[in-house]
Amino acid sequence: MNLSTPATPVADLVDLQPSRERIAADVVAGLSAVPRRLPSKYFYDARGSELFERITHQPEYYLTGVEIALMEARMADIARAVGPALHVVEYGSGSGRKTGILLAGLDDVVAYTPIEISRDALLHSVERLEARFGGVEMLPVCADFTRPVQLPAPGREARRRLAFFPGSTLGNFERDEAVGLLRAMRDTVGTDGQALIGIDLDKDPEVIEAAYNDAAGVTAEFTLNLLARLNREIGSDFDLGQFRHRARYSQERRRIETFLVSQCAQRVHVGGQAFDFVAGEAMLVETSHKYTDADFAAMAGEAGWQVAQAWNDPKDWFGLRLLRSAS
Ligand code: AVJ
Repeated sequence: MNLSTPATPVADLVDLQPSRERIAADVVAGLSAVPRRLPSKYFYDARGSELFERITHQPEYYLTGVEIALMEARMADIARAVGPALHVVEYGSGSGRKTGILLAGLDDVVAYTPIEISRDALLHSVERLEARFGGVEMLPVCADFTRPVQLPAPGREARRRLAFFPGSTLGNFERDEAVGLLRAMRDTVGTDGQALIGIDLDKDPEVIEAAYNDAAGVTAEFTLNLLARLNREIGSDFDLGQFRHRARYSQERRRIETFLVSQCAQRVHVGGQAFDFVAGEAMLVETSHKYTDADFAAMAGEAGWQVAQAWNDPKDWFGLRLLRSAS
């Protein structure tokens, strides 16, 4: 099946997928920075989404399994805490496993809006959820959720909005960006809105580092796929054989730092510009922050939220936080 041209188009899809020009401009800006970096939001083309899904099944990548088990164990408490008749707004749309648990466990969901940068991933997930949740109005938005998004209005009015941001995807943002995103989320759901956020908690660095260096090499393939995607979509000429995946945990910054390391001196062309790499030069492509309770509560507070409830798995590896407006 070719997902980019679905047989049954979603009629009310709001499509704001970033243009080739936008992507190229972001990449040129990143390559012009010192040290160089690439934006991790472009990992998720069809192949990238497929590779990420495979990562979530690797034994070392504990995040997904632990979060799903936590949601399953606590879904009744979560449903009680957030209340009925919600418009659920998901930031990103994964495989739909967590969304399924949420939509099945909540009381009378009015509508569901996934906001997702990848049109393929968005349509794929909505297609499957539609079949399972016939009574929930599906209102997908294809957009970069780091920019303000106008939500489509459901046919039946919801009592409140609930933002759902699982997977510790918040961790891919720098602290100030994460605070900005949480603040925008609060604007999107309104003053009586709520947010349910999944966060990966700080823990033994060896456990964290293994999660981003799986033995099967799926994460390395995922990281390199970013270059393949850029070559295809913006006409850059990264040599995939001459960059290597490297992921290290910085305890000081409490984050995984993933790099693509240039294996030799080489020149890369993007958008009519040339960029020279020296041998061993490390280009930062992703950061995955890990949180303490104090860190996360402080960030939420700066964004105008307060932590209303907190649920952790039995090992305190991963947490779900329910946020309500502070004022
Ligand atoms: C989906 C963004 C949460 O940072 O853990 C997994 C992405 N990158 N392995 C993460 C990812 C490499 C993942 N997030």
